[in-house]
Amino acid sequence: LFSELPEAPLDPILGLNQQFLADPSPNKINLGVGAYRTEEGKPLILNCVKKAEEIVDNSGKFNKEYLPIDGPADFYNASQKTLFGDTVATHGDKFVSVQALSGTGALRIGMEFVKKFFPKDTTVYISDPTWPNHKNICTAAGVPWKNYRYYSRQKNALDMAGLLEDISAAPDRSIILLHVCAHNPTGMDPTPDQWNDIANLIQKKNHIPFFDCAYQGFASGDLDRDAEPLKDFVRRGFELFVAQSFAKNFGLYGERVGTLTVVTAQTQTVKALRSQLKSIIRANYSSPPAHGAYVTQVVLTDEKLLREWKEELKGMAGRILDMRVKLYEALKQRGIHWEHVMKQIGMFSYTGLNPEQVQILIQKHHIYLTGDGRISLAGLSTRTVPILADAIVDALTL
Ligand code: LMR
Repeated sequence: LFSELPEAPLDPILGLNQQFLADPSPNKINLGVGAYRTEEGKPLILNCVKKAEEIVDNSGKFNKEYLPIDGPADFYNASQKTLFGDTVATHGDKFVSVQALSGTGALRIGMEFVKKFFPKDTTVYISDPTWPNHKNICTAAGVPWKNYRYYSRQKNALDMAGLLEDISAAPDRSIILLHVCAHNPTGMDPTPDQWNDIANLIQKKNHIPFFDCAYQGFASGDLDRDAEPLKDFVRRGFELFVAQSFAKNFGLYGERVGTLTVVTAQTQTVKALRSQLKSIIRANYSSPPAHGAYVTQVVLTDEKLLREWKEELKGMAGRILDMRVKLYEALKQRGIHWEHVMKQIGMFSYTGLNPEQVQILIQKHHIYLTGDGRISLAGLSTRTVPILADAIVDALTL
């Protein structure tokens, strides 16, 4: 039955992780997957998470019963506040949030909704480049997608003219996938003025924005500030989708915690929207997992833990920024002036290394990065920055 079955290609990010784990070199460095590491190169469980787990386990308020199909209201309401800030007070009656299996799950529910209820040829426009899974998710949900220009590799800068041209050329009422902050993989975000131009154009074209918010807190270190582009769209009265992930900013990668929010123009559609999202979820995985959602809910609804989370998040963002500066300086000392590294923000740097140079780093230096030249700065430490800088010099001069 399965003798002719071809093997699926390795995932460009998680597959790289497999390659890294299989590498016996004691000097190997993993800058592939976007996951936070401490200065010692270890995964981090936040203190606020440990305290919340204690409460979930021992307070007697939580159990292992099935969650509602759309997750606990206390969880998604608190998540909504984190994402939408002050716009909850002004527009919250038009928000429909459901718990999702982190950002990927939220995107998938959203795309299935698009497939089911939008006109047949509705196309999702995705930045070029983007997180590779965006395309997989659209394809798997049966929703056509196309690229819009986003980044110029020649200039190592945002291709704003190309972006506006492509979004303008897209048929009216297309879906435009946007990264709220800390664009993955480029780390290059639009400025507030550029966001303004993007929003004006999307409005003029009656497009529907679909935001992916996987790195809230990692761009500026401040949750509110990082969500500003999204809040601006809400204030303008857009109907939109947002996939919210707590994988990175809570360090809850394997717990798969997140939400999908649909913002509608009319409060009377809220009930139907929730019922349809629930019906999509029920057919996928019945109801979401409880533990991570409860932990997140406990932190977000406890003033002291919430404060502690924000501090710890600032700490993670700060260490990543420190690595960015150190890498920039180390390269400068070696005669390489990569100004773009300092213009980019968030967890990644899009180095500009070409596929051959990437292979030199992987094969010769055992430094793992994605094929497009993206490095996760979170995987670096004070010790490994000079090692990477030397390897980059080597790759550039070979
Ligand atoms: C990444 O871009 O490295 C992360 O979002 C991890 C993933 O799932 O790809």
